[in-house]
Amino acid sequence: MSQTLYRKWRPRQWEEVVAQQHIVQTLRNAVAGGRVAHAYLFAGPRGTGKTTVARLLAKAVNCLDPDPARRPCDKCDYCVAANEGRFLDLIEIDAASQTGVDDVRDLRDKINFTPNQGKYKIYIIDEVHMFSNNAFNALLKTLEEPPPHAIFVLATTEIHKIPPTVLSRCQRHEFRRLPVDAIVAQLQKIVGEENLQAEPEALTLIARQSAGGMRDAISLLDQLASAGQAITLDLTQAVLGTATSQTVLALVEALLNRNPAAGMDAIHTALDSGADPRLLARQMVDYLRALLLIQMGNASQVDLSADVRARAETHAARLSSAEVLRIIKIFNTAASDPRSGWQPSLPLELALAEAIESPAAAPVPAPSAPAKKAAPVEKPAPPPAKAETPLPAGESAELGLTLGQVTKAWKQVGAAVRNNMSLGALLNSSKLLELKNNTLVLGFASDILRNKADTPEQVEAIRKAIHEVLGVDLTVKFVVSNAKQTARTDVKPDGMVAAALKNGGEIVDTQE
Ligand SMILES: Nc1ncnc2c1ncn2[C@@H]1O[C@H](COP(=O)(O)OP(=O)(O)O)[C@@H](O)[C@H]1O
Ligand SMILES: [Mg+2]
Ligand SMILES: [Zn+2]
Repeated sequence: MSQTLYRKWRPRQWEEVVAQQHIVQTLRNAVAGGRVAHAYLFAGPRGTGKTTVARLLAKAVNCLDPDPARRPCDKCDYCVAANEGRFLDLIEIDAASQTGVDDVRDLRDKINFTPNQGKYKIYIIDEVHMFSNNAFNALLKTLEEPPPHAIFVLATTEIHKIPPTVLSRCQRHEFRRLPVDAIVAQLQKIVGEENLQAEPEALTLIARQSAGGMRDAISLLDQLASAGQAITLDLTQAVLGTATSQTVLALVEALLNRNPAAGMDAIHTALDSGADPRLLARQMVDYLRALLLIQMGNASQVDLSADVRARAETHAARLSSAEVLRIIKIFNTAASDPRSGWQPSLPLELALAEAIESPAAAPVPAPSAPAKKAAPVEKPAPPPAKAETPLPAGESAELGLTLGQVTKAWKQVGAAVRNNMSLGALLNSSKLLELKNNTLVLGFASDILRNKADTPEQVEAIRKAIHEVLGVDLTVKFVVSNAKQTARTDVKPDGMVAAALKNGGEIVDTQE
């Protein structure tokens, strides 16, 4: 499989576009009736089909099929050339990397050439909100008097940054987030045709985590498939960090039994073996939310493996919704508590104590009595990370460590994050892109995965693991890149992006 799945599965005909029917229908009618506008603005979240539809339009207006209603035919010379990224009259510009007015002047010069091959020259300007004022002004001039053979498609994820003067010159289309069902259906189709094995629950979880973006969903599927095993719910949860940990189950049991000692024990055991306190608090919230959904009769919305689900159902039956809500609020506060610097376990301990405190109704044993018995109070909580490993400042720069050496040791680094299962899985799925000036650049297949890794807690855990294995202190940075080949990143065009691109090739969304 040389091509990443989401590129391979870019729709080549109108019928293949999932959702967005309102837009597709309007554009098809315009093509069929020969009423195509000169400037379009496609707005909407990432990975919902803006570039895809722009390319379909470019193919449609130049397609050689005699019947306008059948364009694009996807078979004629021009359609094929466009599919292969060698159609000269389809010009894609990434505004994120071309903010200078020079490029726009260049653009204006280019625009005045007539089409090379087709009837129309199509300019797709991606992330157009990144244009500078000068660039917008230059664009506006062109939009005011577009050459008859030019069609502009401006695409943006941030429509509020587009000047009204530009907006008013464009026919606007809003791309919507895709429904979970639609994403699942598409994933199912891909799984079938690519001969992959995947549990339906795993696909649902992928779709839910993708926030309506088809690209992220397919990238995640690709990532999971690259392990060469069946895509199970367990694997997906491990990579996404959504698995319900034994600690969470133990904490909920402690709450139900009003047993603070057992709860404290669960917290300390988890933290001592390297779990992240805030992540743990968040997992509690996720699980409690699942209980709430079960109580409200929405069990189908819950992404839990079969055995955890069985326990969740018992837990849901033993608590009232009001209780669950109350406890969610408490742990939600703990998840965002900034006070944890010197005593990381404190917010969780407070949350547990508060949650266990009986609401007026419940008859409950006094919480203080059993606390001493089993709680490992003498066991010191893990000290703040900084004190634990005083690192020789700036030493690694001179160590001459190479990317190859880091790559070799990477499995060990993954293992060194120990109990943090999801982080280990994340690290194993990342790609090492660059090591320069003590900064290690890691590539992830999708935004979802990158964001999972890019939290202060995770960064700190990675830094510590690297130090443990390699004895150096590196800064880690994350970008979005393909599993097999470096791709377009979502980061501003700084050194990182340049580095990522240098390592792998082209900007994916410009041409393929
Ligand atoms: N509406 C859609 N229907 C089918 N596939 C889609 C759709 N939107 C996105 N995709 C998938 O995601 C990939 C990226 O989509 P793209 O059109 O580049 O998104 P955008 O430009 O909105 O960020 C496509 O190659 C395709 O695989
Ligand atoms: Mg795009
Ligand atoms: Zn054609």
